[in-house]
Amino acid sequence: MGKILETILHGQKIGFHPQRVLLLPDLDAMLVADIHLGKAEFMQGKGIPLSNQPHQKDHERLVKLIKEFQVKQLFILGDLVHRPRQNPQSLQRLIRDLHPLAMEVHWIQGNHDGDHQRSLPDSWKVHSNALELGPFVLRHQSSEEKDADFQICGHVHPCVKIGDGRDKLRLPCFALKSKLLLLPSFGELTGGYELLPQEWETFVLCLGNEVSRLESSDLERFKKRS
Ligand SMILES: [Fe+2]
Repeated sequence: MGKILETILHGQKIGFHPQRVLLLPDLDAMLVADIHLGKAEFMQGKGIPLSNQPHQKDHERLVKLIKEFQVKQLFILGDLVHRPRQNPQSLQRLIRDLHPLAMEVHWIQGNHDGDHQRSLPDSWKVHSNALELGPFVLRHQSSEEKDADFQICGHVHPCVKIGDGRDKLRLPCFALKSKLLLLPSFGELTGGYELLPQEWETFVLCLGNEVSRLESSDLERFKKRS
């Protein structure tokens, strides 16, 4: 399902996967953020005839990745659903399909999730704010505390812009700076927030079947050429 970029971050082996998940192979762990299940239903409720198919594809992609990497610990870094009081069919289908895979599921509540515990299996571990994993602290939104540990977070739906005008591409990415790694949003319907290259050190662009690592200075150069 794609070519992974492996590296060592903060003493831990990690893999950037082009399907927008982060792998921690030594911990048999996979991290995913911002799936936003139920967004299609929410838009349908507003009269926009959006198909549920993207949620189905997200679901299939996630289950396939878990099976491929024999994940024993899944960490969902918030915004599993799009609206706090939603209990969309896509969530119930995902719960049903994850159940036989015999792994630990950790869910950090994001700002879109609200209190969804009643519709989740008892075996899922729910974290209202943060949890530690190896040398990292996992959160939905990053903490601004200066002495915070190395954080891995979601929430931002990071993208970078390549090119300009009609040739402009907005690509989802992982974004890295001193003690923070942002994950791209996993859901197809989530949109993206364009990061400013000068505020980050390194980007890992998700290109479908592979990833591409770029330093922020490379992106600045692309911008000047375009
Ligand atoms: Fe989100």
